[in-house]
Amino acid sequence: MTAPDQAELLRPHAEQTFATELAALAAVDDRPRPPSWKLSPSAVVTYLLGGVLHDGTPITPKYIGPRRLMEVAVATLATDRALLLLGVPGTAKTWVSEHLAAAVSGDSTLLVQGTSGTAEESIRYGWNYARLLAEGPTRGAMVPSPVMTAMQQGAIARIEELTRIPSDVQDALITVLSEKTLPVPELGIEVQARRGFSVIATANDRDRGVNDLSSALRRRFNTVVLPLPATAEEEVEIVTGRVAALGESLQLPELPSAAEEIRRVVTVFRELRAGRTEDGRTALKSPSGTLSAAEAISVVTSGIALAAHFGDGVLRAGDVAGGIVGAVVKDPGPDGVVWNEYLEAVVRQRRDWADFYRACRDLGS
Ligand SMILES: Nc1ncnc2c1ncn2[C@@H]1O[C@H](COP(=O)(O)OP(=O)(O)O)[C@@H](O)[C@H]1O
Ligand SMILES: [Mg+2]
Repeated sequence: MTAPDQAELLRPHAEQTFATELAALAAVDDRPRPPSWKLSPSAVVTYLLGGVLHDGTPITPKYIGPRRLMEVAVATLATDRALLLLGVPGTAKTWVSEHLAAAVSGDSTLLVQGTSGTAEESIRYGWNYARLLAEGPTRGAMVPSPVMTAMQQGAIARIEELTRIPSDVQDALITVLSEKTLPVPELGIEVQARRGFSVIATANDRDRGVNDLSSALRRRFNTVVLPLPATAEEEVEIVTGRVAALGESLQLPELPSAAEEIRRVVTVFRELRAGRTEDGRTALKSPSGTLSAAEAISVVTSGIALAAHFGDGVLRAGDVAGGIVGAVVKDPGPDGVVWNEYLEAVVRQRRDWADFYRACRDLGS
């Protein structure tokens, strides 16, 4: 199988998309690098937060938020402790974990997706049954998990949604993280982690209690809590940046007035999330679903596709209204009430939102 041209890929990995930036960072990076690291910790933080290198190369910001959080996250990976990124949905936990692995190890693909069905084999190893039957347990018949591969390579393994994994399976991580070794009793061997090995796990605040981390496991992690964007400006910047990048990779045209609609989507989501209007004057009810930057990004991107293919090439209120209502009204009963109150008490009162009010009413909600 030949690898497709990267330009053909729907979603290249971070280390592919930002290969040029990573190479430029490595070229000017004169700080000490921890064993197996592709960059120094300080260069990794520059990669995440953006900046301009000595030689003038611009580095785009990937994470928008407090620098200190990224410093703590990167510093953790340079110790023998693993990193747990915690936060409500849409706070860039997965995103930051991918970029950290790309910058530190040059490989963000050693990934375990945590679900209630995640088995021990995804954290330890499994077997190729055809070979196991033919050869018995041999090294060649063993199928290493991403975690085992990361240990062998001295790289970072990523575990998504750690708290969704059943607790007995989570426990398989304890030996790995405390002893840095993975015994394979069938072969009478163990795989010892090379320097540079670490784990970045993500977990959702809302899942807490599902399979809460055992204290033994929690002790192996430093936790960094990723917050929701502090200000509307920050949130607009996050959405604008991602919408532009996504639009480029989907080859959607750039549309006039996207900035205005992004601002509006962000305002609606922030107000409903906070349970009050931006001016603090009107108390609101919050809907059941998540209204994060991630949802705003997809509402605007869908709106741009609508405007580009079926509209007049200008992003208008009508192109985002359906997406906004769809994101807010997850449960038609209670969320429908929340949305209608917002529509009448807030949207309708804003003179410059008349187009948006009309577009929402036209949806018949
Ligand atoms: N603070 C932020 N800085 C940069 N991008 C962000 C930020 N918050 C959210 N995003 C964007 O939101 C999207 C969803 O983030 P994701 O990592 O999937 O969230 P989570 O894993 O926390 O649920 C990503 O595309 C990311 O670019
Ligand atoms: Mg995630």
